[in-house]
Amino acid sequence: MSPLHKDTELNQKAWGGVFKEVLDQRMETFSESISFDRRLADDDIDASIAHASMLEHCGLLEPNESDHIRRAMEEIRTEIHEGRFEFTTAREDIHLHIEAALVARLGDLGRRIHTARSRNDQVATDLRLYCRRAIDRIDGLLLNLQRSFVDMAQRELGLIIPGYTHLRRAQPVLASHQILNWCEKFDRDRSRLRDCRTRTNVLPLGSGALAGSSLPIDRDVVAKLLGFEKVAANSLDAASDRDFVCELAFVLSLIGVHLSQWAEEWILWSTQEYGYVLLPESFCTGSSIMPQKINPDALELIRGKSARVLGNLQSLLVLLKGLPTAYNRDLQEDKERIFDSIDTVEASLSIAAPLIDGTRWNSPQIALSIEQGYLDATSLMEAFIAHGVPQRTAHETVGRLVRLAMTKGVTLADLADNECRAEYPDWKGDFRSSLGSKAAVERMQSFGSTAPAAVADQIEAWSRRLSDNDRPSTEPRSN
Ligand code: ARG
Repeated sequence: MSPLHKDTELNQKAWGGVFKEVLDQRMETFSESISFDRRLADDDIDASIAHASMLEHCGLLEPNESDHIRRAMEEIRTEIHEGRFEFTTAREDIHLHIEAALVARLGDLGRRIHTARSRNDQVATDLRLYCRRAIDRIDGLLLNLQRSFVDMAQRELGLIIPGYTHLRRAQPVLASHQILNWCEKFDRDRSRLRDCRTRTNVLPLGSGALAGSSLPIDRDVVAKLLGFEKVAANSLDAASDRDFVCELAFVLSLIGVHLSQWAEEWILWSTQEYGYVLLPESFCTGSSIMPQKINPDALELIRGKSARVLGNLQSLLVLLKGLPTAYNRDLQEDKERIFDSIDTVEASLSIAAPLIDGTRWNSPQIALSIEQGYLDATSLMEAFIAHGVPQRTAHETVGRLVRLAMTKGVTLADLADNECRAEYPDWKGDFRSSLGSKAAVERMQSFGSTAPAAVADQIEAWSRRLSDNDRPSTEPRSN
């Protein structure tokens, strides 16, 4: 220890010098973040090792000193991973814990690690590294989810189900088309994640507390070692910017919304009333009082858990809205919110994929409902239009035919030619080729429609895309 350093209770904190009073125990409990920011340990160690290499590169550490620091940091990492590291609220956060452990090992050399660094730029850096890793993991989980949907679409190709708008029977669609609609939504989520990753991948370290450093540091070296694409250009902004946290919270919210919509649909479709899908029992639970119940709890929890993800986004936005420029301690409140969103979405995605793999479509039940509800009315209307009838007239005429069929309690196909002619004098037997759900689906020809050939093309395109290794490259580590 240097003769200047006096190890008293006061300076066990990182700010001992100017204080005459020790921290009130109640304030210690109130202000600690170690109980949750210990998750940043790996990122804090990675960033510190890179920082030390840069300090040596710039002549602020002696040759080989960064090597000693790196080795000590790796020992600390192992201790933490093996559960041997002692955490205490006496050191408020993970940054102070790791620095103290380094000093305990290396003495004065450890006391140099915080050169040209503040906890403000340190925590911003750690959190960016943490979010970047989470983004890559979640992207991988979304990829798995998409693969499960595409496999299902492939298995069920040919199966026709009622399509709904306003939760009313609308037009027939291929089950595969409905399944691939989820693939599209989750693909946009993946693209939003990539976008968010770009703005997350900017280095704040070297911004100091708010103003930068008068020491000759080289931030590009740190950025390169940690795989950051850019160095933040304004120290005031860099130490306090949490836009990337909000963006990630938003992308996770939208993933939560998509998961919740899908879960809601399958909860409905697995009821006795619909009976379209059969959920795997291994993802359902029973009732403690009603012996017959098999409940869709996995889907209900996926739907329910999205609520906290949406709440976290709201909390983060409110947290930031009143903050003046640069670091304020309020920012410590960002972590539990974003950690919770990440955990929740990862958990939901991890359950969703195997649940999809185990779900089967109940074709006999679907066959019973597919010719009910006049799902072919639009198909007949378009056959009229193709025959030269103005759309409004065709719509009205088919409407009258539907009304007639409803009154008689039959399908459109059951109406006799003379009944149809009474409503539409130009009626031809040929129009019958547009009737029935199968015909309605097969006659589709627009790009993006539910036509069997178009859907088969989509399945093939998805399989090709998803089998390519399109996951973001993993970042280089500093050690
Ligand atoms: N635990 C703090 C946080 O999470 C670290 C930064 C503290 N900086 C400060 N000047 N008190 O934000």
